[in-house]
Amino acid sequence: MFSDLLIEKLQNADSVVVLTGAGISAESGIPTFRDKDGLWNNFKPEELASMDAFLKTPERVWQWYKWRQELINNVQPNLGHYALVEIENYFIAKNKIFSLITQNVDDLHKKAGSKNIYELHGNIMKYKCVNCNYKTDQIDQSVGLPTCIQCGNNLRPDIVWFGEELPEQELDKSFNLAESCDVFLSIGTSGLIYPAAILPVYAIDEGAYSVEINPERSPISYLFNEEIREKAGNVLPQIAKRLKIE
Ligand code: OAD
Repeated sequence: MFSDLLIEKLQNADSVVVLTGAGISAESGIPTFRDKDGLWNNFKPEELASMDAFLKTPERVWQWYKWRQELINNVQPNLGHYALVEIENYFIAKNKIFSLITQNVDDLHKKAGSKNIYELHGNIMKYKCVNCNYKTDQIDQSVGLPTCIQCGNNLRPDIVWFGEELPEQELDKSFNLAESCDVFLSIGTSGLIYPAAILPVYAIDEGAYSVEINPERSPISYLFNEEIREKAGNVLPQIAKRLKIE
């Protein structure tokens, strides 16, 4: 399933980076984007996840995000999320660095108890004004189009939409962490969306031991030292267990 070498590399690591994608939340019941029943097979991203779409049909965009919020509010983190918390705690106890970089906006890592999280694509439970810098995690759910209490313009989900830059601080930190880690785990991501997909390359170029956990091959599978063709919820608890007992 996974190699003894991976356990050895983790045991000896000073810094570990985990990059997660939608696949880690699939076992909680949240659809991924590009699998058979994925969101982008049923909806058009350009009509829902872009500033153009929001300017044209803000009610429709809000309706879609509220539907996703409801979906997320009704599920729980799964064994994969919880195992990452155990693995983080293992490194905290050893005074080593464990960083969780996620492309997910669903907050399930935080709900599970992960601490050192970098959200590259924003968070579906947070909002920002289209006009000023106002950010909030509270909106009046009863109104169709929530507005900014500072300037009166529309609020939008605080998510990175197509054509938008990633949050600068999180991105810079993620590149630094990738470049300086000893082990890089890529979990449940198709590796198709940049710049997240380039992070393993930064890590590998600097000599990190790299592992992909995904039941399917991805376009970047060939990069990794080790490919684990398993569901995250199956393999991560076993990795956590091995680390704890050895
Ligand atoms: P994708 O839907 O592109 O890929 C999900 C990956 O998870 C696939 O490679 C699956 O094989 C894998 N997978 C499915 N079930 C799994 C499981 N139980 N364990 C492990 N892996 C599993 O999702 P992302 O790679 O996250 O961007 O997509 C990247 C970005 O594209 C998203 O953050 C989103 C989307 O457009 C924004 O919303 C900004």
